Amino acid sequence: MIQNLIYVDNQYGLNYIHIDLANNNFQDKEWLLSIIPQQFLHHLKVALHNREAFLEQCIQENTTCYRLFHGAVERWPSVTIDRYGDALLFQTWRSDLNDDVVGQMADFIEEKLHHRFYILWADRRKRGQVERHWVGDAAPQELMATEMGLSFRVDPVHRGIDPLLFLDFRAGRRHIRSHAKGKKVLNLFSYTCGIGVAAVAGGAKLALNVDFGNHALKIGRSNAVVNGLSEPQFETIQDDAMLVLRQFSGLGVRGKAKRRQFTKRTARLFDIVVLDPPRRAKSPFGNVDTVNDYQSLFKPALLCTKPGGRMLVTNNVASVEVDSWVESLNRCARKIGRVIETVDLIAPDSDFPSLDGKYPLKLAWLSV
Ligand SMILES: C[S@@+](CC[C@H](N)C(=O)[O-])C[C@H]1O[C@@H](n2cnc3c(N)ncnc32)[C@H](O)[C@@H]1O
Repeated sequence: MIQNLIYVDNQYGLNYIHIDLANNNFQDKEWLLSIIPQQFLHHLKVALHNREAFLEQCIQENTTCYRLFHGAVERWPSVTIDRYGDALLFQTWRSDLNDDVVGQMADFIEEKLHHRFYILWADRRKRGQVERHWVGDAAPQELMATEMGLSFRVDPVHRGIDPLLFLDFRAGRRHIRSHAKGKKVLNLFSYTCGIGVAAVAGGAKLALNVDFGNHALKIGRSNAVVNGLSEPQFETIQDDAMLVLRQFSGLGVRGKAKRRQFTKRTARLFDIVVLDPPRRAKSPFGNVDTVNDYQSLFKPALLCTKPGGRMLVTNNVASVEVDSWVESLNRCARKIGRVIETVDLIAPDSDFPSLDGKYPLKLAWLSV
């Protein structure tokens, strides 16, 4: 049931009408509830219309995972709809839908994409909790999706906010795939190794994927296998990325952290280093803080990139301005006597539209 907020569109744009239905202070509840599907359907139609060229490109490239609806940017705040192969994932944060509305939206998508889907609704209204249920039949346990012809394991029921593949990072995977030929690539915070798979598929001599998550790396290795990729080109290290970074960069382990037990590694240089960290993470070898201290990550990552090499670095914190972030990268490079020769900003693909060109996920391709 809709509790508090109704969105009504008119020819001039979206009006937000706040109505406290829970307190019964509005007479015509039934009418309001009945217009929700039409309103939402209208925005979904526009969203799919805007994606026509993108969806055609996905067919050509053999990509079956992408965003179909992107919340407030597409005029229905707090709702996203993603396709992961044979599954549609509806995620709602504040908006209150019901199975009927979700079913109607799914019917419309199925008709447009000429495909039948399993439909999962992940309701995230309660802070820190997710209520998930299948609207209709549940999908089989092992779901796969394709991206640019490569296969990836996906799992809409997965506990995290992503079903094992971050869709907005597709632009990064595409970029690495087309620049990796003959290169040695270090993939830090690799998660399920999407970048590593793309790099080896693009002809990399090596993609070394580092993450401390055993489960993520296991899926990463199975992603490699299913695409016919293996060692020695595709390798994984299950360890603390901050430790590995300090070792490969030659900075070494210092202070109290030295007392810990850890695998010893010597310094190593790579042609391409990919740094796609989480917003924050604690580590005995140096905390990750992409808002206040990106430099602690960037410095060792730069030091393990060959002079003349390339880096793909990201910052996924929406409040961080791209200019100040890039300036902090430049400052950091200067401090250690390196120069960032060029900075190319890569926009996410058009299934993640932005009204002002400011993308929450910032991707920078650097030549260093
Ligand atoms: C935002 S995801 C990275 C996404 C990934 N780059 C991709 O291409 O999909 C964050 C990952 O960082 C890992 N992680 C966080 N802190 C870490 C640390 N100190 N060492 C190694 N991995 C870490 C998590 O296990 C998680 O897989």
